[in-house]
Amino acid sequence: MPTLKFKEYSLDIPARVYLPSDDTDLLLLVLEKEVISTGKTFVKAIDIGAGNALLSLALYPVVKEIYSTDINPIVIDYLLNLKERYNLDKMKIVYSNLFDSIDKNEGFDLLVFNPPYVPTEELIEDEDLDQINGYDLAVNGGEYGREVIDKFIEQLPSHLERNGVCYLLVSSLNKPEELIELLSNKGLKTEVATSKRLFFEEIFVLRITWVCQQM
Ligand SMILES: C[S@@+](CC[C@H](N)C(=O)[O-])C[C@H]1O[C@@H](n2cnc3c(N)ncnc32)[C@H](O)[C@@H]1O
Repeated sequence: MPTLKFKEYSLDIPARVYLPSDDTDLLLLVLEKEVISTGKTFVKAIDIGAGNALLSLALYPVVKEIYSTDINPIVIDYLLNLKERYNLDKMKIVYSNLFDSIDKNEGFDLLVFNPPYVPTEELIEDEDLDQINGYDLAVNGGEYGREVIDKFIEQLPSHLERNGVCYLLVSSLNKPEELIELLSNKGLKTEVATSKRLFFEEIFVLRITWVCQQM
């Protein structure tokens, strides 16, 4: 079990839980610049697919409450231990497939999601969860790496507050121009916060807000 130092935390990341990678680092970079260093406080945040918890922990000081969710039960155990060990009272751990365990119209003013975005032949189905390889669950995105991302985009409008912001990691392999159009059809504005070229793809952090924000 690799131990990772992150800020004041010492993280024992279990096997089958996603280790931080280029995508995690790119999101951390944007969150630091656009969220954490601004001095703004967020009322209710959600880190979907929290995994190793780095994004949740980075945001922890600037939120009143953060939901750290995941579909992998091994991640949920890991997060529960972390919460107890460091008295993370503002962190609520939720076992959930995307927003399935969240109330229908529960809103968040800050959302982050580093999804499974790697194109693979098929997505792991819910029935297989007992035998899951958590790493596959963290990376396998089905056709064009889009299956989880598309469902997320479908559900996002019910959970993004009018003045809220969502940071979503996507890859050039996911046909990002199509994603931006899907979001636009839902009344959402998408900007590229930053990007990074990797060996066989480019990854982007999308900043998503409502076109009509609340005054
Ligand atoms: C690429 S990892 C990101 C982990 C961590 N947030 C990071 O940035 O390093 C994707 C995470 O999403 C979780 N995940 C995959 N499908 C999901 C779904 N449908 N709902 C919630 N979480 C999901 C995986 O278990 C995994 O922990």
